[in-house]
Amino acid sequence: MSANQLDKKSEAWSALFSEPMSDLVKRYTSSVSFDKRLWKADIAGSLAHAEMLAAQSVIAAQDLADIRRGMAQITQEIESGAFDWKLDLEDVHLNIEARLTQLVGDAGKRLHTGRSRNDQVATDVRLWLRDEIDALLPLLAAMQQALVGVAERHVETILPGFTHMQVAQPVSFAHHLLAYVEMFARDAERLADVRKRVNVLPLGAAALAGTSYPLDRERVAKTLGFDAVCQNSLDAVSDRDFAIEFASFASITMMHVSRLAEEIVLWMSQNFGFINLADRYCTGSSIMPQKRNPDVAELARGKSGRVVGHLMGLLTLMKGQPLTYNKDNQEDKEPLFDSVDTVRDTLRIMAEMVAGIVVKPEAMERAALKGYATATDLADYLVKKGLPFRDAHEVVAHAVKFALSEERDLGDLPLDVLQGFHAAIGEDVFDVLTLRGSLNARNVLGGTAPDQVRAQLARHRKRLFTA
Ligand code: ARG
Repeated sequence: MSANQLDKKSEAWSALFSEPMSDLVKRYTSSVSFDKRLWKADIAGSLAHAEMLAAQSVIAAQDLADIRRGMAQITQEIESGAFDWKLDLEDVHLNIEARLTQLVGDAGKRLHTGRSRNDQVATDVRLWLRDEIDALLPLLAAMQQALVGVAERHVETILPGFTHMQVAQPVSFAHHLLAYVEMFARDAERLADVRKRVNVLPLGAAALAGTSYPLDRERVAKTLGFDAVCQNSLDAVSDRDFAIEFASFASITMMHVSRLAEEIVLWMSQNFGFINLADRYCTGSSIMPQKRNPDVAELARGKSGRVVGHLMGLLTLMKGQPLTYNKDNQEDKEPLFDSVDTVRDTLRIMAEMVAGIVVKPEAMERAALKGYATATDLADYLVKKGLPFRDAHEVVAHAVKFALSEERDLGDLPLDVLQGFHAAIGEDVFDVLTLRGSLNARNVLGGTAPDQVRAQLARHRKRLFTA
C-alpha cells in the first residue's frame, strides 16, 4: 500500500468499490470534525487491545512495540496540534489507524485484528464519558457546598415561602437553599449510578457476533479500568442506554439549575429586591442605562432547553433501530458532548455566582410580613385551644378578610379586635403571629424551625466537607 493510498478512506474496506465517494457523501457521513475529541480514549483502547493481542500471541511482541511507539508519536502530534485530521478518513478511528500504519507499517495494519469500529467506538465513548463523569461529580459537590455556605449565614433570615407564587408561610432562607442541596445531592447519586453502567467494556464484540481470535476481554477491561465486560456481543455494539441515562441525569440536573436560576432572576428583580448579584455576573443594556440584567442566570435557565432536547434526540435516535450497530449511532456524539459541556460549564458558573450572592434580609422579611404568612399559625393556635381545624380555618379567613380591608397585618390588630373573631384568643396569640414565632413552631423533622435547619446543615457539612 503506497503512502498516498493511506489517505483514502476506501482503503479501509477494500477493492470492492469501483467509484469514489462523492464529496457531499463524504461530508455527510464523516464524523471526524467532532469525534476527534475521543482521541485519547481511542488510543488508550487501542493500546489495551494490542497488549492483549500480544499476550495472547495473536500479534508479535515486536508488533506491540511498534504500535506503542507509533501511538506515542501520534499522541504527541495531536497534543501539539500537528496531527493532520483528514475528512477523507471519516472518523477518529480511521484517522489514527491510518497514521499509525504510515508510521510503523504492518504492525499498524495488525492492530484491528479481532476488532471492529463498532465495538471500538462504543468503548471510546464509554471511556470518555467515564472521565467526564468523574470530573462532574466534584462540580455537583461544589454546587452543594456553595449553597450550604450561604445557608450557614442565613438560618435566621426569613423569606416568604410561596405556593402558587402567593405568600404562604415564612421560611428560613437557609431552609430554602437546602431544598436545592437535596436536589443536587440526588443528582450526584444518580450520576454515580449512571457511571456503573457506563463503565462496562464492549470491546471484543467485534462487528456484532464476537470474534474467532482468542481474545482475553477481562484483561482489556482490567487494563482500561472497566468494572465489567458486556455479556452479549449484539447488545455491546448497539446499546446506547448509557448515553441516554447520562442525558437523563443531565436534563434533571439542568432542570434543578433552571429552577434556581429562575428564583435568582425573580429575587433580583425590583419587585422582589431580595438579593443582589456581583456585577461580574450581570450585563447592562445598550439603551437603558439603569439596567443590570442577571444574564448568567437567564442563560442557565435557557440552556436547560438544549440539554432536555438532547435527551429527546437520543431516545428518538434509538427507538427505531434494529439490532445491531447502525450508522444512526454516529449521531449519539454531538448531543452527548454538548450535554457534558453544558452541564459542566453551568454548574461551574452557577456555583460561583451562588457563593457570591448578596442577601437582603430586611427586604425578604418585609415581603413575608405583607402576605398574612402567619394565618396558618393563628389557625393552629385556635386548634390548640380546642377548635376543630376546619372551624379554626374559617375563623382566620374572617380575620384575614378584615385585616385586608384595614390594610393591616394580623399581628397589628389589637387583642379585642382579634377576640371579636373568637373568644378563645388570648394575649399569647402575638407569640404565634410573629414571623419568628411561626418559624420556631415548625420544629418537625424536615421543617423550617432554625433548630431543624441547623441539624440539616450539620448533616450536609459532614457529608460535603469532610473527606
Ligand atoms: N464513526 C462511527 C460512529 O461514530 C464509528 C463506527 C463506524 N462503524 C461502521 N460500521 N461504519 O458510529
